[in-house]
Amino acid sequence: MAEVLEQVRELLEGSVDAAVILDGERRILYYNRAYQELTGLRGRALEKRIKQGAHCYEVFPLEICENACLGCRAREVSRPLRVDEIRAMRGDGEELTFIVAAVPLADGKIIETYRDVTADVRIQRRLQELLKRERQQKEILEDKVVERTGELEAAMAELRQAQAQLVHQEKMSSLGRLVAGIAHELNNPINFVYGNVDFLGRYMEDLLSLVDMIDGYLEQESDLRDAVESRKREIEFDFLVDDSRKLIRSIRSGAERTAGIVRDLKAFSRTGGGDLQETDLVSGIETTLNLIAPLLKNRITVEREFAPDLPKIVCNAGHVNQVFMNILTNAAQAIHGEGTIRVKIGLDLRGDGIRVEIRDSGPGIRKEYMEKILDPFFTTKEVGEGTGLGLSISDNIVRAHGGRLTYDSKVGEGASFTVVLPLRPPAEAGRDVEPHSNAARRSI
Ligand SMILES: Nc1ncnc2c1ncn2[C@@H]1O[C@H](COP(=O)(O)OP(=O)(O)OP(=O)(O)O)[C@@H](O)[C@H]1O
Ligand SMILES: [Mg+2]
Repeated sequence: MAEVLEQVRELLEGSVDAAVILDGERRILYYNRAYQELTGLRGRALEKRIKQGAHCYEVFPLEICENACLGCRAREVSRPLRVDEIRAMRGDGEELTFIVAAVPLADGKIIETYRDVTADVRIQRRLQELLKRERQQKEILEDKVVERTGELEAAMAELRQAQAQLVHQEKMSSLGRLVAGIAHELNNPINFVYGNVDFLGRYMEDLLSLVDMIDGYLEQESDLRDAVESRKREIEFDFLVDDSRKLIRSIRSGAERTAGIVRDLKAFSRTGGGDLQETDLVSGIETTLNLIAPLLKNRITVEREFAPDLPKIVCNAGHVNQVFMNILTNAAQAIHGEGTIRVKIGLDLRGDGIRVEIRDSGPGIRKEYMEKILDPFFTTKEVGEGTGLGLSISDNIVRAHGGRLTYDSKVGEGASFTVVLPLRPPAEAGRDVEPHSNAARRSI
C-alpha cells in the first residue's frame, strides 16, 4: 500500500491540478505544489498547520465541504466521484471554480483533486450571456418587425379605404352627372313626343270625322262613292283607322314609360352632391328596382313585403339609393336563370329606424368568402365585371348614416343583406330637417 501511495504522490507532484491525500479524519497527509498555491500559504506555514493536524476544509474550504464532503461520499460508496463547477475562494481572495474529484483508497484514505476551470466557466458564462443578449435582441427585432408589419398593414388598409373612397366619390359624381345628363337629354324629346301625340290623336279624329262627313255628302253620287269605296278597300281603311288608334295609344304608353324612367333617373341623381333630406325609402327602392328592371326581366320575380305607413328618414338619398342599387344588382347577378328577390321593409325592432332586408334565391356565399365580401376590391366576378367596391362602399355609406349593414348566407340557400338606417343620422338627431332646405343640409 505504501508503495502505491508513493507512486501516487509522484504522479500528483507534477500535476497542474491541485491534489491532496487525506486520512480517514480528513487531515492532510500530502499536498502537491498546485495545492499550496491555492491555499496562498507559504510552504512553512502550510507545513506547520498540517503538523498541527489541520483538516482539509480548514486549509482550503470548498463550498461543498460543510454539507456534502465529496471525499466522505466517495468513501461511503467506495468509488470515485466527481462534481463540476464547485466554487471556492483562493488564498488571495479570488473566487474560483473547480472540477473536484475524490478517489477512496482501500485503507480509508482519500485522494482529492481540484481542477481550476474558472477561465473556461467564465468564457462559457460570457458566451451564454452573449447568446442570451443576441436572442433578446433578435426577439426585440422580431417584435419590431411584427409591429412595423402591423403598422404597414394598417396603413395599407387605410390607403385602400381612401382609394375606395376616392373611386366611390368619383363613381358617384360621374354617375350622378351621367344620369342627370341622360335625364335632361331624354326629357326634351319625350315632352315633344308626349305633347304631340295627343294633338296627333285629336287631328286624326278630326280628319276621320271629315271623311265621315264627305261620305255622307257622297251618298247619292254613286260614281264618286264607288271610287272612294274602292280606294278605301285598297288601303284597308277600317284596319288603318283601328291600327292608327292603337299606334297612338302605344306611342303614348311608350312615352309615358320613358317619362317614368326619366323621373326615376332624376330621383336617383337628384342628390349626388352629398346633401341630407327627408326621404321615402320605399319609393327610393321602387325607383332603384325600376332602374335595374332590364337585369330582372322575365327571369327574376320581385316579392315585396312593405310595412304600411313607414316614416320618412333623413339621409343622403343619392347615397342610400346607391346602397340598394349595389345589393339588388349583386342579388340579380348572383341568380343564374330564374329566381326570386324578396324585399322586406319595416320598422327596426327598436322603432327608431327602418330595416330593409333583401333576400335572393341565388347560390349563396361560400364560407371562405363570408369574412371578405365587405373588403374593398374583393370580388369573385370576372375581370371587368366587378370592381369589388359595391359592398365596401355600401357599408361605408350605411355607417356614415349611423346605420348597419349585415348579411347572412348558406351555400345553396341564397343570401340575405339587411340594412338598418336610423330615422335620423346621429348628428341630425333632435334637429328639424325640412325637405330640401339649405339650412338643414349637411354633407356626409
Ligand atoms: N347576393 C349575393 N350572393 C352571392 N354572393 C354575393 C352576393 N352579394 C355579394 N356577393 C359576393 O361578394 C363579392 C363582393 O361584392 P361587391 O358588390 O362588393 O363587389 P362586386 O359585385 O364583385 O363588384 P362591383 O359591385 O364593384 O361591381 C361579390 O364578388 C360576390 O362574390
Ligand atoms: Mg356588386
